[in-house]
Amino acid sequence: MLASDEHAAAIATFNRQIWGDGATGEGVLASRRRSAADNVVAPGQAPPFVIVVEGTRVIAACGSIPQRLWDGVGEHPAYWVKGLMVLPEYRGGPLGYLVLKELLSHLVAATGRVTALAAAPAARRLFTALGCADLGAVPNFLRPLRPARIARRLDVAAIGLDLPRAVAMGVRVAQRSGLAYLAGVAGVALDCAAALGRRGAARVATTYSSEAPGRDELDAMWRGARGALAASQVRDGLYLLWRFGPEGGMEPDGNPYGFVTARDAGHLVGVVALRRPKAVSDPRLRGTRVATISDIVFPPERADIGLALLGGVERAARTAGADGILCSTGHRALVPLLRRQAYLRLPGNMHFFLRDVTDTARRWPSDLASWWLARGDDKEDGVL
Ligand SMILES: CC(C)(COP(=O)(O)OP(=O)(O)OC[C@H]1O[C@@H](n2cnc3c(N)ncnc32)[C@H](O)[C@@H]1OP(=O)(O)O)[C@@H](O)C(=O)NCCC(=O)NCCS
Repeated sequence: MLASDEHAAAIATFNRQIWGDGATGEGVLASRRRSAADNVVAPGQAPPFVIVVEGTRVIAACGSIPQRLWDGVGEHPAYWVKGLMVLPEYRGGPLGYLVLKELLSHLVAATGRVTALAAAPAARRLFTALGCADLGAVPNFLRPLRPARIARRLDVAAIGLDLPRAVAMGVRVAQRSGLAYLAGVAGVALDCAAALGRRGAARVATTYSSEAPGRDELDAMWRGARGALAASQVRDGLYLLWRFGPEGGMEPDGNPYGFVTARDAGHLVGVVALRRPKAVSDPRLRGTRVATISDIVFPPERADIGLALLGGVERAARTAGADGILCSTGHRALVPLLRRQAYLRLPGNMHFFLRDVTDTARRWPSDLASWWLARGDDKEDGVL
């Protein structure tokens, strides 16, 4: 069923069981009210959230995030699917299918357009079974800043990058036999290559700040960038501030985002929302500190701006003590810039799904190289 305010306490119990956090009924209610107020698709309404209830207990749930999609010409309302989850003891039954089917029926009725990012094979099977097109895995790019530290610490098998078994084993052998120090030598080479690759970007000035640029400036920047984009989430001031700004980006430990901005003759022409490396990183990274390019916006035809932004990102990430920088994209304009900046391509783990039952369906490209996606879309930048 669609959850309503009266289910807040049961949803909090479900969240505590899944995340082991201190979720409360009041907290769930407050977050429902906030997301209703911020809803860009149906202002004032809480985004659809479907639960499966046994007795009074929530045993499966799936939520949604309202958004706007850009098709190169105009904006269209859509929903991200977020947080598909079945209690462990109920997995392998019909619940995942049921909860997702019910949620999709509400999202399709509301906007006709649904997007999702999903990594787990079980979730991917369910999205496909329920009529969402799998456009493939969004590639991950890692820029090693301290390659020796990464090589020693990374748990390659557990990180979920779908590395071929032989490659993962090879890395573990290298880690055990101390070959990782060679990565230090490689690091110097990567840094030189990145600096050379940024020649020509010098005209564009970048800064790094924990303060987000203003909404009007971000709107103007988005208008300057979107013309050459065939498919993307709308990344204007409203979205970027809602998602990464002082209130929107706030998490229990504070706001993890800083902003690299690029200016040309004083005008904002590009921005990166950079997620600072966490003090305590994901266990799969075993202490490696990876900063994440959660979002990046610039006119894709302006390689000089993209390179200047990546230079600013590198400086900010080093200052924050990061061992590496992660960027997830398959876009044909951004991938070559990442390569020039010595980012190494790793197999992607996050698949992008799309379902559109409206007359815009035929406007969407079916290749990821045409989609401007970012790690922070669907709030997937907190996990790696
Ligand atoms: C991902 C997750 C929600 C899947 O839920 P689940 O209920 O365990 O779903 P399963 O993949 O086991 O599929 C269960 C059943 O769904 C039903 N099902 C799947 N595809 C179906 C289809 N095309 N038609 C009808 N039923 C289908 C089947 O009964 C299937 O069982 P079977 O594969 O043994 O025949 C659950 O594993 C989970 O909560 N994982 C942790 C969180 C997570 O990774 N979430 C994904 C975030 S994107």
